[in-house]
Amino acid sequence: MGMSDLYGPADEAESLATIYAALDAGVNLIDTGDFYGMGHNEMLIGRALRGRDREQVMISVKFGTLRDAAGGWHGSDGRPKAVANFLAYTLRRLDTDYVDIYRLSRLDPEVPIEETIGAIAEQVQAGRVRHIGLSEVGAEAIRRANAVHPISDLQIEYSLLSRSIEADILPTLRELGIGLTAYGVLSRGLLSGRWTAEQALAPGDFRGFSPRFQGDNLVANLGLVEALRTIAAARGATVAQIAIAWVLSRGEDIVPLVGARRPDRLTESLGALDLRLTDDDLAAIELAVPVGAAAGERYAAPAMADLDSER
Ligand SMILES: NC(=O)c1ccc[n+]([C@@H]2O[C@H](COP(=O)([O-])OP(=O)(O)OC[C@H]3O[C@@H](n4cnc5c(N)ncnc54)[C@H](OP(=O)(O)O)[C@@H]3O)[C@@H](O)[C@H]2O)c1
Repeated sequence: MGMSDLYGPADEAESLATIYAALDAGVNLIDTGDFYGMGHNEMLIGRALRGRDREQVMISVKFGTLRDAAGGWHGSDGRPKAVANFLAYTLRRLDTDYVDIYRLSRLDPEVPIEETIGAIAEQVQAGRVRHIGLSEVGAEAIRRANAVHPISDLQIEYSLLSRSIEADILPTLRELGIGLTAYGVLSRGLLSGRWTAEQALAPGDFRGFSPRFQGDNLVANLGLVEALRTIAAARGATVAQIAIAWVLSRGEDIVPLVGARRPDRLTESLGALDLRLTDDDLAAIELAVPVGAAAGERYAAPAMADLDSER
């Protein structure tokens, strides 16, 4: 996402180098959205995968989010004919004839989820989609969708700072045998260990609007990061590695997505795979960042209202 949108300017050569380095390191899941930079992200991934064995990489695509040329956001379109349309453009931009996991980014309140899932299921039948996923929906929508067609995974924010899914959504997924793809594992950079209260932001950067990055909330959240830094130092790890390893420790059915756009960040993040947190580490982390410790919601009010998962 950050390679095309929302986190300020990105360097194309560095983005490509990061994707190549990820593939070479054995990363086999790439997540995108057709609205990340209005198709830019899909074209970037298509370019990065040129000459590679397509079968070795899983591409997960979110669709449905409506944008405008000024970067504005205008809800979601989950109508069956929109599904067919969005997918046709995505396949061309990715330069592929199938998407591994296809998912509506935000529930369309005007279209029953059964209709959207039914339309994606037709694309599965046609061989253009391999698995159907979900994004940011709650337990009821998960059940309704899964009743139409088996769902592979739910993509949703999950990190030390965003744990609301533990009450209801995660148990529902486990009951139904559906995986979880966790995003915002580094809380959009807040848990990177490098964020500062003085951080300059480019115009339009998501974090300029995100409640957790504002004023007193930011100061409080950076205090939590400092508590994690002490634990990280004791393990010879970085804060980012602790944050990723914590998500990895939550279950084999949880896949962390990490939004790196530079090779050095990727290398650091991959280091989390060698970090096995002990029970003592996990207890210390829980004490440093208890459930609900984050100051501020994970999105600003208008975007929160679009989240079926938060109803
Ligand atoms: N389903 C949804 O609604 C939804 C919503 C948002 C995102 N997503 C998906 O989830 C992916 C990840 O989310 P995200 O990028 O928002 O969140 P994230 O992974 O929590 O945070 C990314 C931020 O952390 C920084 N970072 C990455 N690795 C680092 C490291 N090792 N050390 C220090 N800083 C590091 C990145 O910096 P640099 O950019 O400078 O590398 C970037 O600022 C996105 O790319 C997107 O595909 C899905």
